[in-house]
Amino acid sequence: MPRIYLDANATTPVLPEVVEAMRPFWEESFGNPSSAHFSGQRTRSAVERARASVAALLNAQPKEIVFTSGGTESDNLALAGVLQPYLDHGKPAHLITTAIEHHAVLYTAESLEKRGVTVTYLAPTADGVIDPAVFEAALRPETRLVSVMLANNETGAIQPVGKLARIAKAFAERNGATILFHTDAVQAAGKQPIDLGGAGLAGEFKNVDLLSLSGHKMYAPQGTGVLFVRTGVQLAPLFHGGPHERQRRAGTENVPGIVALGRAAELARTWLASDAPAALHSLTTRLEAGLLSSIPDAAINAAHAPRVPNTINLRIPGIDAESLIIALDVKGISASFGAACQSGATEPSHVLTAMGLTHAEARSSIRLSLSRLTTEEEVDRALEIIPTAVKRLRALPKG
Ligand SMILES: Cc1ncc(COP(=O)(O)O)c(C=O)c1O
Repeated sequence: MPRIYLDANATTPVLPEVVEAMRPFWEESFGNPSSAHFSGQRTRSAVERARASVAALLNAQPKEIVFTSGGTESDNLALAGVLQPYLDHGKPAHLITTAIEHHAVLYTAESLEKRGVTVTYLAPTADGVIDPAVFEAALRPETRLVSVMLANNETGAIQPVGKLARIAKAFAERNGATILFHTDAVQAAGKQPIDLGGAGLAGEFKNVDLLSLSGHKMYAPQGTGVLFVRTGVQLAPLFHGGPHERQRRAGTENVPGIVALGRAAELARTWLASDAPAALHSLTTRLEAGLLSSIPDAAINAAHAPRVPNTINLRIPGIDAESLIIALDVKGISASFGAACQSGATEPSHVLTAMGLTHAEARSSIRLSLSRLTTEEEVDRALEIIPTAVKRLRALPKG
């Protein structure tokens, strides 16, 4: 039996079209994009085509796209790149972020806090969403940066980023100050449209200044990413070296990875413009409803939040999530508890506990995340396998 992959928020499969687009850049087209000769210029134009494609996905300008090694680097570059200059000049700086961010943001915030930045970590509602009123109350005259994710990796809950960014800009204007707004859109990109407003004044996210993407969450390979940096935003680079990426990210470009990300962005645009997102959403809803009706007392975490169309966070009282994940693995289902990088960790999910779940509730929650390639037949099989595995585990003697 082929395995059923329900862990697309950990990483997505690389689409065959993406592999095909990359292939020449490992073989005949290997030039360094900084070289002036023909081979270099061929890869340079491939990198620039990819940049234009990512910009089109976001309704941004190509020069606002910085290629990085992934979501983690993009998040680090956004936070440290904006705040380090304040520290260097001994100026006060306040950062607002949330308790439900990925560790790429949370641990960067903690590291900046140790260096002198003041940080507010906003708690979400019980449904895993940041309340705009709570956000507004946290703004201070010395707030310089906000970092709120667009979709949560564990629950799929979509945050009201457009609204929060508007509130931040209005506050900054009233105070004659500058507040930059960063969003980690790693789990939203390619799942929902993202409109940064181009060079104009429209677009839901026109007040967002910095936005992170990761290739391996959108059907390109691991180790590729993007930071959108709005025109005019100054960033201190993390890496020092050559003048690559308009002085914002030194280092010879990962050409095959960048080409892959460009192709994946093109495919994401086509996918988002089709009926496929609605079909994925109904597949996810069918899996969710089937599990709720066949597993007594099961519940959905962030049930009432708007969510990306592929993510289910299922709480199953009396079940140890890790044991269930292992049992499902044996039966051919790849799923996870919490974030992939937390697997093996003894601490319960910081996202679920921030939403008010007890440690026991958080430890009994699993994440199922579907991909664009998930089929009806796989969902049918998952609906047989998961409830049976839960029943077996519940029947085992405790202790
Ligand atoms: C919301 C979020 N941000 C950042 C990251 C880190 O991205 P990467 O694995 O590309 O470093 C992830 C990865 O799981 C994520 O889900």
